[in-house]
Amino acid sequence: MSSGSPFADLAANGPWIAPSLLACDFGRLNEEIARAEEAGVRILHLDVMDGRFVPNISFGFPILDAARRATRLPLDVHLMIEEPDRYIDRFCDAGADALTIHIECSPDPGDILSRIRQRGVAAGLSLNPPTPVAALESHLDDCDQVLVMSVMPGFGGQEFDAAALGKLRRLRGLRPTGLVLSIDGGINEETIGATAEAGADLLVAGTAFFGYPDYQERHVRLGELARNGRQPGKEGQGMTAG
Ligand code: DX5
Ligand code: ZN
Repeated sequence: MSSGSPFADLAANGPWIAPSLLACDFGRLNEEIARAEEAGVRILHLDVMDGRFVPNISFGFPILDAARRATRLPLDVHLMIEEPDRYIDRFCDAGADALTIHIECSPDPGDILSRIRQRGVAAGLSLNPPTPVAALESHLDDCDQVLVMSVMPGFGGQEFDAAALGKLRRLRGLRPTGLVLSIDGGINEETIGATAEAGADLLVAGTAFFGYPDYQERHVRLGELARNGRQPGKEGQGMTAG
């Protein structure tokens, strides 16, 4: 991804907390986004679910449109949907800065990733806990972000699967320069240090962020734990190795 895009520049200097709007109060979406921004958040994660690829339905274009109108922060859109190729242009038109599809429903993602990049949007691939890194190794040059799922996608508030740490370490060794590594699912005070240490640049947090009253305190706390996880000699604090 050429530098200068809000996503690439931001992710180059991680680790960053990417709050997932899935856990926010949608009845006060504008206010939730404004409060997250005032707390110093630099990117927002939007979990789009279709009830087919995952056993849950979350939101679609109206929420993305509203979020786009509410903030200039980069919007990192995670598509947990079948047939994502049908909707790429609409998500790009609606203002996504990053668009991540799942390798499980797009096993040969080269063309769709290229279409996303041609729209000037960061292209991402995500893999679920049962999916090995080998499934997307041949596409690391085709994308700007790899989102490692540390839960089975579909719901916030699930238990972190530490096997994701091994995937992050493997991807850290394989990644082309500039490829952003992200982690999503069960990221909280106990798990965030180990994920940052294992190589995650973007740390998606839903309940560990929006589940608390003081977003400033959450952003500072989670950010400190993530940076501490990166410091030499502090490896592996909290979580056991994956
Ligand atoms: C799973 C979702 C969740 C969400 C974060 O489909 O992608 O992982 O972003 O949820 P928490 O942070 O509450 O586990
Ligand atoms: Zn997500």
